[in-house]
Amino acid sequence: MAKRIEFATPGGSEVLELKEITPAAPGKGEVRIANKAVGLNFIDIYVRTGLYPAPSMPSGLGTEGAGVVEAVGEGVTHLKEGDRVAYAQGPLGAYAEMHTLPAAKVVKLPDTIDFDTAAASLLKGLTVQYLLRQTHELKGGETILFHAAAGGVGSIACQWAKALGVKLIGTVSSKEKAELAKANGAWATIDYTKENVVERVRELTGGEMCDVVYDSVGKDTWEMSLDCLKPRALMVSFGNASGPVDGVNLGILNQKGSLFATRPSLNGYADTRERLERMCEEFFAMIESGKITIDVANRYPLAEAGKAQNAVQSRRTTGSTILIP
Ligand SMILES: NC(=O)c1ccc[n+]([C@@H]2O[C@H](COP(=O)([O-])OP(=O)(O)OC[C@H]3O[C@@H](n4cnc5c(N)ncnc54)[C@H](OP(=O)(O)O)[C@@H]3O)[C@@H](O)[C@H]2O)c1
Repeated sequence: MAKRIEFATPGGSEVLELKEITPAAPGKGEVRIANKAVGLNFIDIYVRTGLYPAPSMPSGLGTEGAGVVEAVGEGVTHLKEGDRVAYAQGPLGAYAEMHTLPAAKVVKLPDTIDFDTAAASLLKGLTVQYLLRQTHELKGGETILFHAAAGGVGSIACQWAKALGVKLIGTVSSKEKAELAKANGAWATIDYTKENVVERVRELTGGEMCDVVYDSVGKDTWEMSLDCLKPRALMVSFGNASGPVDGVNLGILNQKGSLFATRPSLNGYADTRERLERMCEEFFAMIESGKITIDVANRYPLAEAGKAQNAVQSRRTTGSTILIP
């Protein structure tokens, strides 16, 4: 038997329940992993609330974890029992002591990366990899605006941008968050709860504005983000922390300067085994070189997943949050 978090209807954190289950035996192409640490991501909140509906109910939750391979299904060749591994992509059910999932989504961990670090960073780090290195391949010398710069994804983005020689302007909601983003390598910060973001970006860039805006806040920041771009520059909308962006009239991209816009996801970039491995290789190398360190700022027992989600949802956290089974 093993414990896992389930929910039977979408809703607030009170819908999450700790259940005792019999872990599924790995089928063809699958492995079962004994989780040592589980990653908590904002997307888990979208799934819990029903913004991204779970495929069936009752449902497990969470897509990220790190642990030890404990059983191997038929046809799996790249993993064996006892391997130290991590994963960042579905199926739902990572908030658990044991999780069974397709081996193709599981990568071996280098000995230098511990379980807590891996669970706190694989999904977020691969996201930053595709955002800064694929969605737009930053070469150094660019100026970008990155919202929620002191959060889990933001903390990694600040460090990666600095390593690339990119000037990252990070938005944050407090002085403490501004200090953290700066310590992580942000070139400048703006408190978007108090300051006029467009005017501050204009000042900071000498009127040039940004080459790319990375916006995971969504509804509250969409239009202001477009106003922070140079003509013909790229708007990357990759999250909905304040609610989804909807009802967009495409003509706005014309009005704001012949802009480009994209709405990417990790699953759209790490969509083949080869691409996943290449992205992991690059991310793990950034950690091993010391260019990126992972701030495992918040640890909660698995049973307190709801409390942990409330802390993230109410903007009380910085860095990454993990659950310990
Ligand atoms: N598309 C993808 O592939 C992908 C992958 C991973 C993550 N994401 C997105 O990236 C974002 C960051 O994810 P994360 O897990 O690292 O979370 P996080 O950044 O640690 O937490 C979200 C942050 O968003 C900011 N925020 C602004 N308005 C908010 C509001 N109304 N409610 C709650 N938070 C608000 C808060 O920072 P301040 O207090 O500083 O404003 C908060 O700390 C999320 O939107 C997530 O969906 C997208």
